[in-house]
Amino acid sequence: MELIVRTAKGLTIKIRNFERHDIRRVMEIEEESFLDGDAGLYLELYEEWRAGFLVAEKDDEVIGFVVLVLTPEGEGRVFALAVDSRYKGRGMGRALLKTAFYTLRKRRIGYVRLEVRVSNYIAQSLYRSMGFMDIGFIPFYYKDGEGAIVMRKVL
Ligand SMILES: CC(C)(COP(=O)(O)OP(=O)(O)OC[C@H]1O[C@@H](n2cnc3c(N)ncnc32)[C@H](O)[C@@H]1OP(=O)(O)O)[C@@H](O)C(=O)NCCC(=O)NCCS
Repeated sequence: MELIVRTAKGLTIKIRNFERHDIRRVMEIEEESFLDGDAGLYLELYEEWRAGFLVAEKDDEVIGFVVLVLTPEGEGRVFALAVDSRYKGRGMGRALLKTAFYTLRKRRIGYVRLEVRVSNYIAQSLYRSMGFMDIGFIPFYYKDGEGAIVMRKVL
């Protein structure tokens, strides 16, 4: 999969499947975003479902990524989403999610869910604007003890 996308805010990016050599940039973006993952886990998820791991690229540099996994219940789950801080607020998070959801629809998957930090208002606002509804709360979900809001969307 390889797509040239112009975001709603005028940023032109390439969205393509993750490749193993992208892991260094993915981890740099994930570390500056304070997500909880590690490189080994990302590579494992890639091996489990390659089509679910997408990166956004500009001038041959990875500047954002999204990782979807398939749950045992047959739903999609957003495992991680992050954008390089230099490019935040320019429509890339939304464009990555839209592309990833297309991948789920092609597999005839009907729902997608995710967990998001209670304090992460920016991500919550993005998810709500894309049709996600709050369906639950998990206390102490993250390593630092913060709780997660569980959200779900009909595809
Ligand atoms: C969440 C994240 C991926 C959004 O990516 P982005 O490319 O900056 O977001 P977009 O430009 O596509 O904006 C999409 C929506 O997010 C919300 N948003 C983005 N920046 C915002 C800001 N500074 N303040 C409030 N809302 C904001 C808005 O709802 C926006 O929609 P709008 O443009 O119609 O107003 C990015 O902020 C990020 O990498 N955050 C750190 C990692 C993270 O929190 N990941 C999610 C974990 S669940």
